[in-house]
Amino acid sequence: MRSIWNNFLRQKVRSVYRLIEGLKGFLYDYKRFFLYGGWKEDLYEYETRNYNLAMAYHGLEKSLSYKRRDPKSGWSNAERVIFRLKIAKKTKEFGYHDVAASQVLYKFLTLPANKDNPRGKEMLSFLETLDLFSSETHGSIEKTNLDFAQGQIPNPESFFLSRYSLREYRPNQIVDIETVERVIRLAMKTPSVCNRQEWHVYHSDTRETIDLALKFQNGNKPFGNKIPNLFIVTTDLKAFFAGSEHYQHWIDGGLFSMSIMYALHSIGLASCPLNWSQTPKADKAIRKALDIKDSHTIMMMIGFGYPDKDNKVCSSTRRPINEVLSNLQKK
Ligand SMILES: Cc1cc2nc3c(=O)[nH]c(=O)nc-3n(C[C@H](O)[C@H](O)[C@H](O)COP(=O)(O)O)c2cc1C
Repeated sequence: MRSIWNNFLRQKVRSVYRLIEGLKGFLYDYKRFFLYGGWKEDLYEYETRNYNLAMAYHGLEKSLSYKRRDPKSGWSNAERVIFRLKIAKKTKEFGYHDVAASQVLYKFLTLPANKDNPRGKEMLSFLETLDLFSSETHGSIEKTNLDFAQGQIPNPESFFLSRYSLREYRPNQIVDIETVERVIRLAMKTPSVCNRQEWHVYHSDTRETIDLALKFQNGNKPFGNKIPNLFIVTTDLKAFFAGSEHYQHWIDGGLFSMSIMYALHSIGLASCPLNWSQTPKADKAIRKALDIKDSHTIMMMIGFGYPDKDNKVCSSTRRPINEVLSNLQKK
């Protein structure tokens, strides 16, 4: 009887403790959003402006991509873009999104429906003063159904179902930096909100640095000290402006992390995601030990390397489909 009572009490105390821990986490996240989020919209700050500009020119890109576009649409985004580009010109610093925005705006202004617009002409002459060049094609591009079909793989099950989290890798073989860059380039095709691409990945293949990072992570025992390569995947809080976007960096960062793992898998490398569901104390501690930018929120770590000839993995079987998929009904 007494042990039932003790268990009941312990469980209640644990539940309250969890709620308090949760609250501390929410407050910490809120404080980080307050300190580093883009809500202040300081457009003279290079990174904030570039993320902000991505939102504005992406609106124009969408307008350019519709089969039957409204010829009157897009002007408010064009004004937003020009306003931000004027600031870029004042600061004399042009980032990736600044350059892309100028090209998209140029395409918008030279549309047959817009090219004689007097305000458009003013904007065009301003763009000419910037003289920005991009070797990429921004705006909209044509893609046939055959282009989309290039993504088909003959046996998707063989790709998806052969990925397992691997915790022990082929010894003494580090993944070289060219391959690491290839993986990140592939993963960067991940969609992000308004194409802001607010990701940043910290990579190490140095034993001492990996061990130091993993000291703060609580799911890598007893295999962490043999992980050959480590990513710390982060997203930049500066890219988020509206209060309603307070969770968006977790979403974009989660999608990106999964792409990294699939990119690794697609070229024969194995990985293990390592959670960063951490306390504020641990998050502050790792930032003291490692050079991670204040505005970068840690999503997770990913250990990776070459699979050995023979490996053992958790089978981690999946729930039945009827528990995961259902028909959406009206209430
Ligand atoms: C965000 C995230 C965090 C994870 N953290 C850990 C971890 O700290 N340690 C670990 O050994 N596995 C970790 N895993 C791996 C999961 O245990 C594994 O993905 C799950 O059991 C499914 O197995 P599979 O990846 O082999 O399909 C994590 C997975 C995810 C998605």
